[in-house]
Amino acid sequence: MKQAIVIGLLACGMGLCACTDRVVYKDPSAPVEQRVEDLLRRMTLEEKVMQVTQWTYGKNMNVNNVEQEMKAVSPMIGSLLYRSTSAVFYNQIQRKAMEESRLGIPILCGFDVIHGYRTIFPIPLGQACAWNVDKVGESCRIAARESRLSGVHWTFSPMVDVARDARWGRVSEGYGEDPYLNGVMGAAAVRGYQGDDLSKSDAMAACLKHFVGYAYSEGGRDYHYTDISSQALWETALPPFEMGVKAGAATVMSAFNDISGIPASANRYTMTDILRGKWGFDGFVVSDWGAVEQLKTQGVAADDAEACRKALTAGLDMDMVDDVYRRSLPELIAEGAIAEEVLDEAVRRILRVKFRMGLFEKPYVEELPDTTRYLRPEARAVARELAAESMVLLKNESGVLPVRSEVKRIALMGPMADNWVDLMGSWWGQGEAEDVVTIREGLEAEFAGKTRIDYCAGCDFEGEDRSQFARARALARQSDLVVLCMGEKRGWSGENASRASLALPSIQEEFIREMARTGRPIVVLLSSGRPVDVRGFEGDVDALMAIWQPGTEGGNAAAQLLSGKVNPSGRLAITFPVCAEQQPVYYNRRQSARPRLGRYQNLADEPKYPFGYGLSYTNYAYGKLRVDRTTLQPGERLVAEIEVTNEGSCDGKETVMWFVSDPVASVSRPMRELKHFEKQCIPAGESRLYRFEIDPERDLSFPDATGERHLEKGTFFLEVNGQRVEFELI
Ligand code: BGC
Repeated sequence: MKQAIVIGLLACGMGLCACTDRVVYKDPSAPVEQRVEDLLRRMTLEEKVMQVTQWTYGKNMNVNNVEQEMKAVSPMIGSLLYRSTSAVFYNQIQRKAMEESRLGIPILCGFDVIHGYRTIFPIPLGQACAWNVDKVGESCRIAARESRLSGVHWTFSPMVDVARDARWGRVSEGYGEDPYLNGVMGAAAVRGYQGDDLSKSDAMAACLKHFVGYAYSEGGRDYHYTDISSQALWETALPPFEMGVKAGAATVMSAFNDISGIPASANRYTMTDILRGKWGFDGFVVSDWGAVEQLKTQGVAADDAEACRKALTAGLDMDMVDDVYRRSLPELIAEGAIAEEVLDEAVRRILRVKFRMGLFEKPYVEELPDTTRYLRPEARAVARELAAESMVLLKNESGVLPVRSEVKRIALMGPMADNWVDLMGSWWGQGEAEDVVTIREGLEAEFAGKTRIDYCAGCDFEGEDRSQFARARALARQSDLVVLCMGEKRGWSGENASRASLALPSIQEEFIREMARTGRPIVVLLSSGRPVDVRGFEGDVDALMAIWQPGTEGGNAAAQLLSGKVNPSGRLAITFPVCAEQQPVYYNRRQSARPRLGRYQNLADEPKYPFGYGLSYTNYAYGKLRVDRTTLQPGERLVAEIEVTNEGSCDGKETVMWFVSDPVASVSRPMRELKHFEKQCIPAGESRLYRFEIDPERDLSFPDATGERHLEKGTFFLEVNGQRVEFELI
């Protein structure tokens, strides 16, 4: 075998010598690595510097500015943050690069396709609450197709920052508070976006972000300092990225935050030692927006040149938007402050992705009409199913939901009821308000001919306007059921959207209480990008459902849950604290030294709704948790099973979550850690078997503060839905 490879390489080398005019990088049949090396050796310093630079295109697409925007793009630019949806403009720009640049290197176009491109799916936090890995993958596949057809090759997604503080607006963009869940969903997203071949016309490159530790921003304030212990880094922040890299993510984005004194965007330990050295990642790292320049603000670089040197030598390959690399590199290299090989390595990594994407062979896209590109029926269907599965029923007193047939009039109110824009949530890609099915439209269609829907906004998101209260009260009194659509505007979560309090503005709470006083049954649909402090109204309502920011099909999804066409199956991927002050309250904390002491004297210890919580319209009975052994050795497997029966009268989907705890170890462990989950459909009256095979190396080992994994003998517990079994690793 070895011999064959040597002979092959020799032959290829001879081929190159014998035929010097063969342009290897243009030959699609040549291996990618050979094409990269061939192209790299032909490039000038300027051409290399342009490859590590990203600019934006489409900031101002007013008709008068289109030409200007186009002119501003250099044909040599490595990448564009492509904000237009126009395949025509894209082709023009790419043609400029292919035909007007000396070497014809295609531009890589990236965009924030966070939960859909034109068809908008629920925000990632909502997606995580669906616990449906396949559906998350499908949504990303659809987003990739819509994007690629619009000239976007690369998405800055998935975000796998493990949530720690709900005040941080970006919890909406990740998959909740568990590292494993973030890893599983992040990996599914990577596979969905990229498919099995990046060069296919419906695939796009994924970007794991933000590397790393951004969610630890002090006090939940965005962009702030993060003091992360090495243990937390290895145990919580890094694992989802490792899972995403293993799933084949083509790129990674460096974070804004300063990790315990060394900013993530100048951090050689994370970007080079761990990402490349330990995990073997061979794609490229792009900075977050302006993160290179910010190294000055963060106090580790005196000027652009130093910021550039620190970032590039730490392993940050492409500079997003701030232009520091382009302005600083020529001089730094000329004076020997950075070896040209360092730049070569960054260029190599970027070119590798471009070749893998097939951009040299197929730089252009078909110019199809919007109706062919976007919102195809199957895209809408996935958006609806995922939205419905993401919604979490938090309260349902005396079975007020699903809406009973006796209900002839529903009063539909609240600022989210007839609202397109906010249902799409933060980072709405290229979503358009007119595509969105509002809750009002969804309900009117779902209940047509059966129940009359009367609408009145009643109150706004915030402010003091009570002028509609009287009308709303009258409407409520005439109705059999009141559905209130409350929550956060889309800009209240996402980037730069931290909030000190998790409560809704007081006008919304007051309005809910006012409606409750009418004595009518009250259902609250709560739309938000984070957990909400519900103390101000929860006691006054009969049913409460977290609908997150559910996207294009949100209104239909909510209506199907209210009518009972779909049985709620969402479960919280993030804890709902009683209030912001109760945090940190994530489920996988460590045991306190004195568990019954040290609590806040003036606040309950239990969160409002814990991780994994969620009700349904049916009743699931769990059988006995069975294990095939109670001792095992490394290399062996413990098989655990549990049967779940749907004892109710409607079909449902139930997620079983398997937790492990390790009460004594050389490094103290979280009280419980999610190790596996599975969602199955269980028709009414039927049972399904759920199974988990414990692999000690994978499920019982843990990292220390250097990242080394330990598998220690001793007692463990396996926990499912309140049942626990003890077992021993010998
Ligand atoms: C955000 C990133 C995003 C980038 C490009 C930054 O401000 O932090 O998540 O991908 O902008 O839009």
